[in-house]
Amino acid sequence: MNLILLGGPGSGKGTQAQKIQNQFGVVHLSTGELFRENVKNQTELGTLAKSFMDKGNLVPDEVTVGMVRERMKDPEIKAGVLFDGFPRTIAQAKALDDLMSQLGREINLVLNLSVSDEEIVQRLSGRLICKKCELPFHKEFNPFQTCPYEKCEGEHLYQRDDDKPETVRARLRVFQEQTAPLIDYYSSQGKLVTVPGEGGVNEVFESIREVLEES
Ligand code: AP5
Ligand code: MG
Ligand code: ZN
Repeated sequence: MNLILLGGPGSGKGTQAQKIQNQFGVVHLSTGELFRENVKNQTELGTLAKSFMDKGNLVPDEVTVGMVRERMKDPEIKAGVLFDGFPRTIAQAKALDDLMSQLGREINLVLNLSVSDEEIVQRLSGRLICKKCELPFHKEFNPFQTCPYEKCEGEHLYQRDDDKPETVRARLRVFQEQTAPLIDYYSSQGKLVTVPGEGGVNEVFESIREVLEES
């Protein structure tokens, strides 16, 4: 099974991806996380990506697609992949179609998490990320209790640089302009299922589980 999680900034992609990975055995591939790892390790790619991410803009398509192509060589991904935050433009979606067909695979389903802008602003202003396991938590809606990967005690929680209110507004704009057209792109391929992304974390996951078990 090869899946895409589509949804605006803060719609809960990372939160749900961790649960889908655990339950359905697909490998979570988040381009945002790959970029942040490169920023942390101060690679050339990281320096380039950071200059776009800090403004809430997209990293250029060639760079992003090249990074995904490399990551797809990993043999553990053969079992199935869950893309989070990729593709984000029509050009990336077309490049992914090509890449998958070169690999003799295809995208089976696109889950579109729909969440209002108002809810997104609330979620991102209170988000805290664990530096050790990269998992998202929320001061109020999803407080840190235990690290699911037993890597930490919550001592490494930090706020993402791009979660400042003005950057969140830019990310929302970029989503509407460049990423929302993917909803039509995948509906016309008959692959899109929209899942309500509001409600509690477990409630949203139940809706996703139903869709995945039926498909
Ligand atoms: P990326 O890391 O992909 O960020 P994003 O798409 O903006 O999404 P987020 O990670 O902010 O949110 P999420 O949907 O994962 O939500 P989360 O689960 O954390 O990309 C960052 C940047 O990298 C981009 O701006 C761009 O510059 C670059 N980039 C990445 N991919 C790229 C690409 N393909 N092409 C070009 N550039 C690219 O949840 C958010 C918060 O809400 C958390 O606090 C969480 O605890 C809480 N929450 C989650 N679910 C619920 C719920 N049901 N109820 C209440 N609270 C909830
Ligand atoms: Mg995320
Ligand atoms: Zn942790």
